[in-house]
Order: sequence, then C-alpha cells, then structure tokens
Amino acid sequence: FRRDMSALPRVYVTRQIPPRGLQVLRESGQVQFELWDSDDPIPRQELLKKVKGCDGLLCVLTEKIDAEVLNAAGPNLKVLSTMSVGFDHLSLGELKKRGIRVGYTPEVLTDAVAELTIALLLATSRRLIEATHEAKTGGWGTWRTLWLCGYELADSTVGIFGLGRIGVAIAERLKPFKVKKFIYTDVAPRPELAAAIQAEYVSMDELARQSDFLAVCCALTPETQGICNKNLFSKMKNTSIFINTSRGGVVNQEDLYEALSTGQIAGAGLDVTVPEPLPTNHPLFTLKNCVILPHIASASYTTRNAMSALAANNLLAGLRGEPMPKELQL
Ligand code: DGY
Repeated sequence: FRRDMSALPRVYVTRQIPPRGLQVLRESGQVQFELWDSDDPIPRQELLKKVKGCDGLLCVLTEKIDAEVLNAAGPNLKVLSTMSVGFDHLSLGELKKRGIRVGYTPEVLTDAVAELTIALLLATSRRLIEATHEAKTGGWGTWRTLWLCGYELADSTVGIFGLGRIGVAIAERLKPFKVKKFIYTDVAPRPELAAAIQAEYVSMDELARQSDFLAVCCALTPETQGICNKNLFSKMKNTSIFINTSRGGVVNQEDLYEALSTGQIAGAGLDVTVPEPLPTNHPLFTLKNCVILPHIASASYTTRNAMSALAANNLLAGLRGEPMPKELQL
C-alpha cells in the first residue's frame, strides 16, 4: 500500500536546514515538502514562484516574508515557521491579517547565544584578535608592561539592554567572573527575570553611564531600530565595551564608528551588522577595537539541529491545527 503523497499538505522549505528538521518532516508522513537545496538564500523570484499554493512555509532569517510573498503563496498558506528566535524578517501584521499562524525557535538557542556572547565580550575586552595578529605577524617584540592591555570583568558593572532569556543567560555566565553589579533597561522592569541575576532596573541613560560592559540583547522592532546611537555612546565611559549579539539594526553604525574611532568608547564586539554580510571595505573593519563576527551566535551543531527540529515540529503542529511547541502570539 502506497500512500498518495499528492493528497498531503504541501510545504516549502526555503533552505538546506540541519538534518534533524528534515528528518522530522520526512518521518511525520504528514506533509509533502520541497526544499531549496542550497546553503545560500533562495533568489526572491524563485521564492515567489515556489510558495504558490503551499499550505506551510519553513524559512530562515534571510527571507523577508511580506505581503508580496504571502500574496504569491495564496490562500492555502496556514502556517509559517521560521528557524530563528528573531522575527524582524516577518511582516507580522500581514500574517495576522491573513490568519497565518507563526512558529519560531526561542529557548533552544539561549545557551549557545549566551556562550558566544561571552566569547565575543572577552575577545573584545582582552583584545584577542589583535593579539593573535601581533603574535603571527612579528609585532611580538618582548613582554611589555602595558602592551595589549584591556579591561577586566572583575569588579565591573555589566549592563544589559533588553532583559530576556538571553540576557539572563549571559549574566549567569558572567557572574563567576566576579562582576560587581548587573543593571538593565527595557520598556518596563522585568522583576522575575531580574531577580535570578539580582539585576537593577535603570534608565537607558544610567545604563550608558554606569556600564563597563554593555550587552545588547533586545529584539529589533520599530522602537529599537537605531536606538544605540550617538546619544547612547556619548554617555558611555571611554573605558567601556559595547557588545551586540541581537540584530545589527539596533545600532547606528556611523555613530558607532565615530565612538570607536574617537575613543569615546573602548571597543565593540558585533555578531550582527547591517547589511549582512558587512562589505569587507566597511569602515568598521578598519578599526582594531572592533571585533566583527559573521552572525554565528547560535552556530553550534546541537543548537542548529534543535532549531531545525523545533521549526519542523512547529510547522507540523500548526498544520494539524494544534498548538505549536513555540508559537508567536500575533
Ligand atoms: C535567530 O535565531 O534569530 C538568530 O539570529 C540566529 O540564530
């Protein structure tokens, strides 16, 4: 007996996703799916063609899911599942208007992102990239008393911009480094989360003024777009380190360049930029005190597979008309 696959809901997957997710889809026997079988993003025109008539869509963060894509998909589309915790690439209003349910992948990546944030923070504050470069290229003359000095976490104040799961996980990991004080800002105090790390709620100005290390952990929304700008940097200490593992769009990069090149702040570590990839001739790449990573915070095999499986399970649950393991409330 062979099941008639053509009767099953049709799903389009916009990228080669890690194997666990594909396995979940395959073994479910619940959907027929087609895949953009590449490690590179699907060209827009191709996406517009492929989504036509689909019941479900599984995407990653490089696909902008807006009215154009949803119109191209047509009225069959019931579920969108993104393999990401961020959802700034989705037009939520358009999805809601059409009654399309949305799944995303919070929690499974929190540990990996927090871990990478610590690595980036230390690489920036202790100047690791500069140091390996010096060692390799003959800059290592002798042991010198102030050469390649940086800033330490012990006795410092760490500020978290946007306190959520990831911010808490970062603070938990930083605590053993003998941080003196955690402070945070957000649209409103988040006492339950803050209690876990004994963090004090402060205004954005105070966060800028007091933080020796400022980690951005907020979502990109119209409210946070470009919020890390001249106004913020100008209030920071010239010994402080700025870290962003959320979205590049929260930072005004011209203002950051200015702050870094004039010594207004000591350094910045960025895992996210605008655009991505950041062109290799971008001015930020010329700065020794700016460490730039290519959006790898969640990039561990375990986490990417967990994200892939969760995205697949969200999609399948949505198509069954059941609550998703992780559904975005629209
Ligand atoms: C996300 O999930 O939004 C990250 O940026 C990539 O893991």
